Amino acid sequence: MGRETLFRYKEIIPDFDAFLQAIKGPRNVTIRWNPHKITRERLLELLNESFEVVEEISWYESAFRLGPNDRPGKSLYHALGYYYVQEESAMVAPLVLEPKKNSIVLDMCAAPGGKTTQLSAIMENSGTIIANDKAIPRLKSLVSNVSRLGCLNVIVTWNDARFIEAKELFDYILLDAPCTAEGNLTDIKLMPTHMRESLSRIQKALLAKAYDLAKPGATIVYCTCTFAPEENEQIVASILNSKNVRIESLHLKVPHEPGLESFGSQCYGSELKKAARIYPHHLNSGGAFIAKLRKGS
Ligand SMILES: C[S@@+](CC[C@H](N)C(=O)[O-])C[C@H]1O[C@@H](n2cnc3c(N)ncnc32)[C@H](O)[C@@H]1O
Repeated sequence: MGRETLFRYKEIIPDFDAFLQAIKGPRNVTIRWNPHKITRERLLELLNESFEVVEEISWYESAFRLGPNDRPGKSLYHALGYYYVQEESAMVAPLVLEPKKNSIVLDMCAAPGGKTTQLSAIMENSGTIIANDKAIPRLKSLVSNVSRLGCLNVIVTWNDARFIEAKELFDYILLDAPCTAEGNLTDIKLMPTHMRESLSRIQKALLAKAYDLAKPGATIVYCTCTFAPEENEQIVASILNSKNVRIESLHLKVPHEPGLESFGSQCYGSELKKAARIYPHHLNSGGAFIAKLRKGS
């Protein structure tokens, strides 16, 4: 059987032509300032000396947009940990989690560490972040990024997060789940259906574990970089229907669409409108799905 294409989502994506155009790229090159290593003013001076195009991003003072052909990962300023090269859409979930200083945070699927290092910056290097991943090659990048950016509040662990043995330990949990990554596609062909189904089972188990690991009243952010409702709304609907948890409204400063109430014959419920879908044409960046959950007390 042939592979499905992005036209699967034609009915749910307004501006579908703009969406298809953005998929073809090129996407914006963006970096995030690392306050542990340099002031924002000094970084801006250095960027202006090194790159022809340096745009400040109105919705997030830590983010800068460079020219489409720039390779900021090759600069010595990158090696010095002055910034992290990160898609704009990927910077949203840590801001939604919004961990307070001195709190205990779990980043369940953390490698290579874009969101971990951002959480560390938000927490001003205070408290503790457990940054976990199960893939050893990716853990190497995570350790290297945490060290390069001087994130002193991060402890890296190696676990299949579905089987972490603890209960009600964390104030904040980020679950940036493994997914079919349709939001990073440059072509219209999707992954085979069986991959979506198998990831969907893993995502459900990971979110159930996040619930167990969260303290009563804790915040859990579930996010992916895929469009498939089976990996997004369906996962969140399943925890809303089975556990003492509610979904909270988001107040995003970036363009986005609400989460889906239904897809095809599947009904997820009106509460799912509180989630957000960021499509590539919104920020000329990757796609993202974000839902903010609060565990009942
Ligand atoms: C979307 S990526 C995470 C990106 C990362 N949060 C960032 O911002 O740089 C998903 C990660 O989940 C990890 N992963 C997959 N299954 C896992 C599991 N069962 N337990 C822990 N990590 C897992 C993968 O190795 C991968 O690094």
